[in-house]
Amino acid sequence: MVIFGASGDLTQRKLAPALYNLEKEGLLPQCTTIAGYGRTAMTDEAFREHLRESISSFSRTQPIDKTVWASLAKRAFYQKGEYDQRAGFTRLHQRVQAVDKRLTTKGNRVFYMAVPPTVVTPILSNLSAVGSLARRQPGEEERPYHRVVFEKPFGHDLESARELNNDIDRLLAETQIFRMDHYLGKETVQNISVLRFANSVFEHVWHAQSVDYIRVTVAETIGVEDRGGYFDSTGILRDILQNHVLQLLTLVTMEPPSSLAADAIRDEKVKVLRCLRRPEGDAIGRSVVRGQYGRGAVNQKDVRPYREEKGVDPQSSTETFVGLRTYIDNWRWAGTPIYLCAGKRLARSLTEVAIQFKDVPAILFGAMKGVELRPNRLKLRIQPDEGVSLRFASKVPGLGMELKMVEMDFPYGSAFPAASPEAYERLLLDVMAGNSALFTRRDEVELEWEFVTPILEAWAKEKPPDFPNYAAGTWGPVPSQEFFSPETDYTEAAKGTKGR
Ligand SMILES: NC(=O)c1ccc[n+]([C@@H]2O[C@H](COP(=O)([O-])OP(=O)(O)OC[C@H]3O[C@@H](n4cnc5c(N)ncnc54)[C@H](OP(=O)(O)O)[C@@H]3O)[C@@H](O)[C@H]2O)c1
Repeated sequence: MVIFGASGDLTQRKLAPALYNLEKEGLLPQCTTIAGYGRTAMTDEAFREHLRESISSFSRTQPIDKTVWASLAKRAFYQKGEYDQRAGFTRLHQRVQAVDKRLTTKGNRVFYMAVPPTVVTPILSNLSAVGSLARRQPGEEERPYHRVVFEKPFGHDLESARELNNDIDRLLAETQIFRMDHYLGKETVQNISVLRFANSVFEHVWHAQSVDYIRVTVAETIGVEDRGGYFDSTGILRDILQNHVLQLLTLVTMEPPSSLAADAIRDEKVKVLRCLRRPEGDAIGRSVVRGQYGRGAVNQKDVRPYREEKGVDPQSSTETFVGLRTYIDNWRWAGTPIYLCAGKRLARSLTEVAIQFKDVPAILFGAMKGVELRPNRLKLRIQPDEGVSLRFASKVPGLGMELKMVEMDFPYGSAFPAASPEAYERLLLDVMAGNSALFTRRDEVELEWEFVTPILEAWAKEKPPDFPNYAAGTWGPVPSQEFFSPETDYTEAAKGTKGR
């Protein structure tokens, strides 16, 4: 596995710990060698020390196991080189070939692009020119395999994503491409399909006739931390909604796939994205809310406004909050509002999918005075506090007929005491196994951009007049909190907004 940009943050926080834990679990083939590549000057020994420190700081299992580490360390080396010059790639190729001979890797290679997107195309061209990377021809057996992992952001709008795809397409077949959306490697995200398709009770109510609305929320209490410069040129719509939020939505709303094969699943996700109504023209103003945090308090600590964060333009109009309402115009979901929301410096950190069911008719208990029935609601808690809960009405013990809404809860942590693997562990293993079910296909990524690009274009034309428009530590701009806050108990029926 060759990691480009191996001196960077991703390698440190995610890739090195994931590789170490796979080795610890005995899941990493013994011939797997880690080659770092980058412009930073490092000896092999310094690179190993960099990996060891990264694992000590960020691995989910501690302390570092000396035997496991020794075994991994002797299979790691570093090659210094530029991304746009051939010389470093030639040397890398020679060293990788030497490993092939020594460790029977059979020429199988994974190239990991842990670099900014601007250098991806030169890297691929150089790999290809020196003979390290070969495009798989249709019908050709994938032996040895050459696979490439791409990190997000995959483009910054529809046009740039298409351009990047075209560039890559010249050098790689789609089966060699693994576009990472690390959310898909999370246990709780994989459990969405298990919950839906390994149980019989949900499918019967999983449609517009029973569901009042669906809301997907990715909320963070953190601000931009030390990524101010990157975030200010990106915004939350591109950074979170275009990928993670839409991926969660597709898994929750897709039709049952014909099998668990990667393309069977991705075909169904693509169908959802094709039917997702794009807010366009005036509808953008009515159904999309953007926000930027001002001064406020998070966890009782005062925090500075976005425009005073390091690396952020003091006049910035970049959004740190987006909430929108849309619809999936297909047979299953026609008329059911879909609320999508992502934000920074919100009141709580949580990622969840809420499926709110319809009210019972106002007869029997629903018609009783003094009884406040709320609709059933299924919550899929992706992180933290991973689990699933269902709200339903129950009789309060006693001689009268008092009703109360209660929660039936399945907490992952106590139900399964074994620690979950990190998303990157699962995903790296899948790349080596050639299973792309948890990676985004070309048409998926372009459809995701098709959905958000009209919003980005409309926003670019009109600067927000009211930024900052929410206090850090709240649930976003006040008028939209009713729809997007997981803490309000909003019902569509009361609003009569169906199908608009
Ligand atoms: N960090 C995360 O948690 C995370 C999460 C999701 C996605 N990603 C994506 O993964 C990729 C890598 O992320 P990262 O956080 O590791 O990035 P990073 O630390 O900023 O950069 C990784 C390495 O790339 C090289 N590099 C940086 N800027 C460059 C430039 N302008 N031109 C050429 N090379 C440059 C540097 O290595 P040398 O100077 O040694 O060449 C650097 O150590 C990015 O595309 C990022 O968006 C990261």
